[in-house]
Amino acid sequence: MREFDQKSITQAVIARLSDCDDARFKRIMTSLVTHLHDFVRDVKLTEPEWFTAIQFLTDVGRTCTDKRQEFILLSDTLGVSVLVITLNHPAEQGSVDSTVLGPFYWEGAPDLPRGSNLAQGVKGEPTFYSGRVLSVDGRPVENALLDIWSGDGEGNYDMQLPAETGMRARGRIRTDSQGRFWFRSIRPTFYPVPTDGPVGSMLRKMGRHPYRPGHIHMIVSAPGYLPATTHLFVAGSQYLESDAVFGVKESLVAQFDRHPPGTGPDGECLNTPFYTVNFDFRLRPEARATERS
Ligand SMILES: [Fe+2]
Repeated sequence: MREFDQKSITQAVIARLSDCDDARFKRIMTSLVTHLHDFVRDVKLTEPEWFTAIQFLTDVGRTCTDKRQEFILLSDTLGVSVLVITLNHPAEQGSVDSTVLGPFYWEGAPDLPRGSNLAQGVKGEPTFYSGRVLSVDGRPVENALLDIWSGDGEGNYDMQLPAETGMRARGRIRTDSQGRFWFRSIRPTFYPVPTDGPVGSMLRKMGRHPYRPGHIHMIVSAPGYLPATTHLFVAGSQYLESDAVFGVKESLVAQFDRHPPGTGPDGECLNTPFYTVNFDFRLRPEARATERS
């Protein structure tokens, strides 16, 4: 029989990986055990604290449903999601910055023609979005796909509304031969991440607010290019300096220009003020595409 003290226990656990034949998994587990044990020793974790952590993770799991992912929210609010994105999707050669996917992506948004109004019947100030998708060398990317989603003008996503609401403020738009896109939606406002679960309790205990600044999500992709999961943030929105999920990148803050009631860019007469925003997304070719060129 071999006994372990508070130091030797770490090597003992790592040694049990000797028969693991997945090198990457072995490396990850070795590092995880090392850091986890160091953390427990560092804070001298008590048994009640250990049990609180077990209970917390159990609650996080129990809060997950097919429409709610509390573990992703935990990862987001602890900055892990942005850290993983920043490691794996560095903005290189002037390509657009990536940021968090967030919990409200809903696969299967409708394919819509350019110029469509994604936000029919959605509360919020009308906003006309336009811009181009370009390669990092400035060439327009034809037929690039923008998979777009946002909350409404009150900060609610369709997934948070009654089930019969269905998809709202979502759509897939493709660029024309000159890489151009345009569509209509609303100007998104700041909103809180869900706070009625264990992550909300954690944020309160940490003394943190749960708000994200106003933003619209998009995944921009095209054959031969690396896709970008990104946002456009509303310049001047509250919480740009303290996003609860640390997702803000300076390069993604866009100017939303306000216009008085009148004729919008699509020729429609609006009896309320409206906004216009223009933004170009630059994509980096995939490695193989770069080699070919
Ligand atoms: Fe969002």
